Amino acid sequence: MIIRNVATCVALILIVSCKAKKKSVSELDAEQPMVTLGSGPLPPTLMETGLFKDGDLAALSPGLHRYDVRVPLWSDGAQKDRFVFAPTDKAVSFNGTKLDFPTGSVFVKHFKSDNDPGLNVETRVIVLNGDGTWVYGTYLWKEDGSTELLDRARTVQVGGKDYRIPSPKECTTCHRENAEVLGFSLEQLNRDNQIQQLSELKVLGPDVQSMLAVKPLDDVKDKALPINSRARTYMHVNCATCHNPGGPKGANLMDMRLEAVDTHLLSLGKIFPGKPDDSILFQKISADTSRMPPVSIRPDPLALEIFRSYIEGLVETPAPVTDEPVQIPEPQPGRDVPAEESQNDEVQQSGP
Ligand code: HEC
Ligand code: HEC
Repeated sequence: MIIRNVATCVALILIVSCKAKKKSVSELDAEQPMVTLGSGPLPPTLMETGLFKDGDLAALSPGLHRYDVRVPLWSDGAQKDRFVFAPTDKAVSFNGTKLDFPTGSVFVKHFKSDNDPGLNVETRVIVLNGDGTWVYGTYLWKEDGSTELLDRARTVQVGGKDYRIPSPKECTTCHRENAEVLGFSLEQLNRDNQIQQLSELKVLGPDVQSMLAVKPLDDVKDKALPINSRARTYMHVNCATCHNPGGPKGANLMDMRLEAVDTHLLSLGKIFPGKPDDSILFQKISADTSRMPPVSIRPDPLALEIFRSYIEGLVETPAPVTDEPVQIPEPQPGRDVPAEESQNDEVQQSGP
């Protein structure tokens, strides 16, 4: 009897002390950041988004996961980290054609100096708010480690190199209606078992087989692949966000999407087969001023290499004799590019 009472007592003490050791919800909150996004405009600092704890990019909020793409956008050479936040119980689903994002989804792209990846440049954020509106913004990292939500384009110097940061309005020249999210797509995510892993994490839905059936983009760096496919894929990611029939005025008549016909740019006279230096397409990516894409200040060495060999390898062919009507893309009205883009504050920011 006594022994049993003692045993009960010990058990009780254990349970009580165990319970006491468990952390309260408020203590957990203090340790783990919590994403506060999903309604209204973005907060003034990255800290307040709750995506990372104390601006420590290694301390991810629960539900925030790292991912990578097959073909990145060229951004003045900056190194980039990408993160996706899927709200609890709501995975990104695949409807057979495209991905459907649940409200509360957040995408993050963090930019670091290519000279010194320890130096932060900017952190871009896209949120699908509860009311269905998409919110875009970018946080500039300052020397003291604090961040600031930008309202206009900037050119900053970090680690001895300049980087151009787009304005909030410029975001939507590329991230446009019905293509709000660009790189978190099945053609880009299909690498290193990533689709399976994101599905296990419940970021992507369970239908892995149908998601894997979407053709992945070619690796533009792979020299073993045909140059034509590398060039077309490069354009698809880096140029077609504007150069598509629904793109901004002046860009919309040149369709650079993978699905566009192969000879389209030749028929428009933008490429002269065998003559890269005479081709406006090559001139535009290597020019000192008004270079393409308009959002970077340094040309991409990979683009110069790919486009030069691509155009050199093309041979002049006489127009095919055919009764088929020639496919000309439908002229579309095009959207106006925001005038605010030209505002470009020069700020100096040398890393610590
Ligand atoms: C020149 C076109 C262009 C502009 C301008 C642009 N982006 Fe993007 N963005 C892309 C492309 C292409 C990708 C996918 C490739 C990658 O991740 O490198 C991307 C990826 C992203 C991602 C990761 C999620 C996704 O869509 O794949 C975020 C977040 C993002 N951009 C935010 C922004 C914000 C915020 C701005 C404005 C401050 C902006 N972007 C301006 C082209 C652009
Ligand atoms: C952010 C949107 C945007 C992106 C991204 C972009 N362009 Fe453009 N592009 C434009 C606009 C707008 C024009 C028309 C105004 C002008 O010529 O500057 C244009 C014009 C051009 C022209 C000149 C056409 C002519 O006949 O004068 C070429 C060639 C071109 N782009 C190639 C490219 C290539 C190659 C890329 C990718 C490496 C690219 N662009 C990316 C918006 C864009």
